[in-house]
Amino acid sequence: MARVIALCISVFFLLLTFSARTGVADDSLFRGQSLSGGQTMVSGGGKFELGFFAPGNASKYYIGIWYKVSKKTVVWVANREKPVASASSSELRLAEDGNLVLRLKDSKNQIWSSNSSSSLASNSTVAVLLDDGNLVLKDNISSDTLWQSFDHPTNTWLPGAKLGYNKSTGRDRFLTSWRNPEDPSPGMFTLEIDPNGVDQFYLLRDRRHRYWTTGVWTGEIFTAIPEMRSNYFFNFSHVSNMIVNEFSFYVRDSAAIHNFMLDFTGEMKRQKWDAEAKVMLQFCSLPRDPCDVEGRCGPFGSCNNFSSDPCHCLQGFNPRSSNEWTLGDHTGGCVRRTPLRCGERDGFLVLSSTQPPANPVRMSTIGGREECRTACLRNCSCTAYAYHSECSIWQGDLVNLKYLGSSNGAKSGAIYLRVDASELAENDHKKRENKAMIVVGAVSGVAAIAVVVLLLALRYRKGATKKGDKWVRVNGRFKLQLSLREKERIE
Ligand SMILES: *[C@@H]1O[C@H](CO)[C@@H](O)[C@H](O)[C@H]1NC(C)=O
Ligand SMILES: *[C@@H]1O[C@H](CO)[C@@H](O)[C@H](O)[C@H]1NC(C)=O
Ligand SMILES: *[C@@H]1O[C@H](CO)[C@@H](O)[C@H](O)[C@H]1NC(C)=O
Ligand SMILES: *[C@@H]1O[C@H](CO)[C@@H](O)[C@H](O)[C@H]1NC(C)=O
Ligand SMILES: *[C@@H]1O[C@H](CO)[C@@H](O)[C@H](O)[C@H]1NC(C)=O
Ligand SMILES: *[C@@H]1O[C@H](CO)[C@@H](O)[C@H](O)[C@H]1NC(C)=O
Ligand SMILES: *[C@@H]1O[C@H](CO)[C@@H](O)[C@H](O)[C@H]1NC(C)=O
Ligand SMILES: *[C@@H]1O[C@H](CO)[C@@H](O)[C@H](O)[C@H]1NC(C)=O
Repeated sequence: MARVIALCISVFFLLLTFSARTGVADDSLFRGQSLSGGQTMVSGGGKFELGFFAPGNASKYYIGIWYKVSKKTVVWVANREKPVASASSSELRLAEDGNLVLRLKDSKNQIWSSNSSSSLASNSTVAVLLDDGNLVLKDNISSDTLWQSFDHPTNTWLPGAKLGYNKSTGRDRFLTSWRNPEDPSPGMFTLEIDPNGVDQFYLLRDRRHRYWTTGVWTGEIFTAIPEMRSNYFFNFSHVSNMIVNEFSFYVRDSAAIHNFMLDFTGEMKRQKWDAEAKVMLQFCSLPRDPCDVEGRCGPFGSCNNFSSDPCHCLQGFNPRSSNEWTLGDHTGGCVRRTPLRCGERDGFLVLSSTQPPANPVRMSTIGGREECRTACLRNCSCTAYAYHSECSIWQGDLVNLKYLGSSNGAKSGAIYLRVDASELAENDHKKRENKAMIVVGAVSGVAAIAVVVLLLALRYRKGATKKGDKWVRVNGRFKLQLSLREKERIE
């Protein structure tokens, strides 16, 4: 009897696991099938996996594609801006209209959709995760591709995927960084091909400010990346004419895991999977100087490439969001600890060895530094000034401040930062404290030396008087009466 029950239970569980898996056929999803909870699709060669993942420890789930070797190596995200709160109560379904749709179970509301025009999608549409990491919707009969994730790259450029534009389709493929390591929603940085037909890529902030370029493609290398010549890990392929300008690359060793990733810090990184250490190695970070990333440290943040963590808030400022700051996202910058009251109560802190922001307002002053200072103080929107044979002032947020290193500490290059007087007082207070510490230190040092000297002197005295010498009073004065033997020795 017990055996029968046990058998029934195991059959029941077998059925349960079966029913949980029936939705998924390895690398493909057919019409009406769905993926939920911990279920995944795995590409034919076993290189890539697709499913729900949660990058932070908040309950925010995304549909993503990652290398099978590690779930942390996410290369594509579907619902970047619309996470779901639970993977088990959501599903990725190949809907009746032939689109891939993310929705809550038992709900018609779409959270995300592949949005392929439904006239193309037929009842023979199938979703397949290919072994190059491309998720495609294709017609099972004609094999026509109806939609593919390679047309909607996120922050990673995979071998075989194209970046660039095709004007006849209006398609433009570019990389967009994540916001931070726990938030895949679109960040500020993009890698885009030159829209004017020149064969080069730009790194941009807010899709407007170009802060770095690969340099022009020579057919072999990009001119700003001369080390490409020695990098025979991959070859580049380029299609360019009046309508199309697209690049792709191929890895020579197809088993090796290589890609390019636009990091949330605005740096373009070449990545390679280290199978032994089981980590994604990042190298060839571009731009080479992290402080060249536009607005890297945000308003009132100072960038220091000598430090492993390059961003610091200026004195008197705190991170605008300590959460983001802790995650390494410094683009939000820093805010004043004490708001400016704007008036004679404001003062200036010296920022030495600091490269000022570009585009100051030049003032014509005759009175030198003092007049420059007054000019800044008089206008509420002035946040800093510098006097270096001429008067420059800056208004509003200070961005792209760069620390030049202590060896470049020429005072003449100093910037004077407007702060509330209390910050100055604190600065003075600290200085005074420091001074006080020095004085206390010096005094105690001297005292210690004095004590030592005194002790030594006493000891000497003791030593000298030990052997029978006596202090005697002669005419109201003490005199040392040496013992006889000592007397003899002296004589
Ligand atoms: C997230 O996890 C990390 C380490 O596991 C922990 O230090 C941190 O406090 C967690 N954050 C939250 C918001 O739970
Ligand atoms: C799908 O297309 C509709 C209408 O064109 C648009 O409103 C929606 O944002 C699109 N969704 C996605 C995920 O692109
Ligand atoms: C698919 O659609 C065609 C025509 O639209 C129809 O003839 C065929 O029976 C459908 N097949 C299935 C499996 O629904
Ligand atoms: C798709 O094609 C394969 C083989 O070509 C076939 O086994 C499968 O049944 C087809 N699926 C659909 C939904 O048409
Ligand atoms: C650009 O788009 C057109 C129209 O869809 C297509 O015929 C052509 O092959 C595309 N070119 C490339 C290089 O993809
Ligand atoms: C690059 O490598 C791929 C794969 O090995 C090959 O198909 C392609 O022809 C190569 N392209 C060039 C320009 O060498
Ligand atoms: C760091 O900054 C200094 C000062 O601007 C610059 O001279 C140096 O080249 C930078 N280092 C790197 C690695 O870019
Ligand atoms: C302060 O400077 C701004 C920008 O140059 C200017 O528009 C404004 O009029 C100035 N205010 C005063 C009080 O001078």
